[in-house]
Amino acid sequence: MINIPFIVDNPIVAPSMLSADFGYLQQDIAFVNQSEADWFHIDIMDGVFVPNLSFGLPVCEAIKRHAQKPLDVHLMIVQPERYLEAFQKAGADLITVHLEACTHLHRTIQQIKDLGCRAGVALNPHTNVGLLEDVIADLDLVCLMSVNPGFGGQKYITQTMEKVKRLKELILENDSKALIEIDGGVNDQNAASLFKLGADVFVAGNYVFQHPDRHHAVHLLKDLKR
Ligand code: DX5
Ligand code: ZN
Repeated sequence: MINIPFIVDNPIVAPSMLSADFGYLQQDIAFVNQSEADWFHIDIMDGVFVPNLSFGLPVCEAIKRHAQKPLDVHLMIVQPERYLEAFQKAGADLITVHLEACTHLHRTIQQIKDLGCRAGVALNPHTNVGLLEDVIADLDLVCLMSVNPGFGGQKYITQTMEKVKRLKELILENDSKALIEIDGGVNDQNAASLFKLGADVFVAGNYVFQHPDRHHAVHLLKDLKR
């Protein structure tokens, strides 16, 4: 099981492979390996939960073969419980499911842990963080979507700042070790204030992969203090 730090001194940075060049995937995997980034963020979309398709198990396996850092797998699919084992076998270290996609969220979280993976729950922008009250103590990560999931390169929703504050309170009140991950439209303009409010993990797709100096882009996200 991957180590998840309890105290995060610098942000954990997870480049989203959705923004990689799939024709040169191995080059982009090598870039993440060599960079200061911490995890690979793997976006799985089913065209039902979100209005887009991305890629599936074979691509996840292929990334795992070359990745020298943990795989943070974000399942944007309905009934994710059907695929947990398959993604664990395909190399997921951390599996995040959407609260909106799970009828039996508590059971699904336990299933992820029983597979030996870290367990995360993602919330769409409209979903209140209070809905996590009864599971927060069991979670390794909460992913706050700062865009409506489905596409890379969208504009960051500023309301996310308020959600980070409320989620941080919920985590502290419940003695939870969950990390707060921000996913969508993260860049060097919004990361510093999010980190100060309590965010721990930054997913970044477009910002990193479209940057003229990608190593520097990762560095700017890493080089923050509370
Ligand atoms: C959106 C995905 C994100 C996305 C982030 O549905 O979950 O992980 O790839 O990409 P950017 O950073 O470009 O918003
Ligand atoms: Zn994602």
